Amino acid sequence: MNELVIFASGSGSNFLSIINHITNGHLNAKIVGLITNKAEIGAIEIARQYGIPHCVLSSAQFTNNKTYESALFNQCIQWNPRLIICAGYLRKIPTNLILAYPNRILNIHPSLLPKFGGHGYYGLHVHKSVLESNETHTGCTIHIVSAEYDQGPILAQERLKVDRSESAELLANRVLKLEHQLYPKTIASYLQQLNNTTE
Ligand code: GRF
Repeated sequence: MNELVIFASGSGSNFLSIINHITNGHLNAKIVGLITNKAEIGAIEIARQYGIPHCVLSSAQFTNNKTYESALFNQCIQWNPRLIICAGYLRKIPTNLILAYPNRILNIHPSLLPKFGGHGYYGLHVHKSVLESNETHTGCTIHIVSAEYDQGPILAQERLKVDRSESAELLANRVLKLEHQLYPKTIASYLQQLNNTTE
C-alpha cells in the first residue's frame, strides 16, 4: 500500500535516513526501487546494501529528452509506487510523470522556500547564497513537485539559526541533519493523509 520509489543523484543520505525510519518502525512504507541519473553514486551503494532494486537512467543512454522521459515513466509505472520521493535528484521531473502521479511526488530542498529555490539553487550554492545574504535563519522544506523547480505546495519546514562565521559546508551539514528527521516524518504524515482521503 505505501510503496515508495526514491529518485536520487548523490550520496543518498536522505535515502538512508528513510530506510532507517522504516526499519525502526517510524515510517510505515516499503521502498520498491531507486532511480538515479548517475552511475557509481552513494545512493546506489546503499540500494545494493539493502537489497533495493535500482535503475540508472543517465542522459548518455538516451538520444533525446523524450526517450529519457518515457523510460523514467515506464520504470515508475512498473514499480507502481504510492509516492515518488525525490531525495537530491538533480533533473527536472517531467510533466508526464507529474500528471500520472498528481500530488504524489515529493521533494526536499535545503532552504526555507520560496527563498533560495529555483534553477541553479542546489547543493552548496544554496548555503553560500544564504550566508552571502546575511540571513538570520535557514532550514529545509518538503514540498509537492510541480512543473517549476521548487515551487509546489509546501508540506513542512524546519528552521535553524545561521551562524554568520560558519562555512557553507558546515551549514549544509547542519541543514542535512534536519532533513534526515523532517523528510521521513513528513512522508509518514502525508501517507496517512492520502490513505484517509482514499479509504
Ligand atoms: C539534500 O540537501 C537535499 O535537500 C537536496 O539534495 C541533497 C541530497 O543529499 N535536494 P543526499 O544525497 O540525500 O545526501
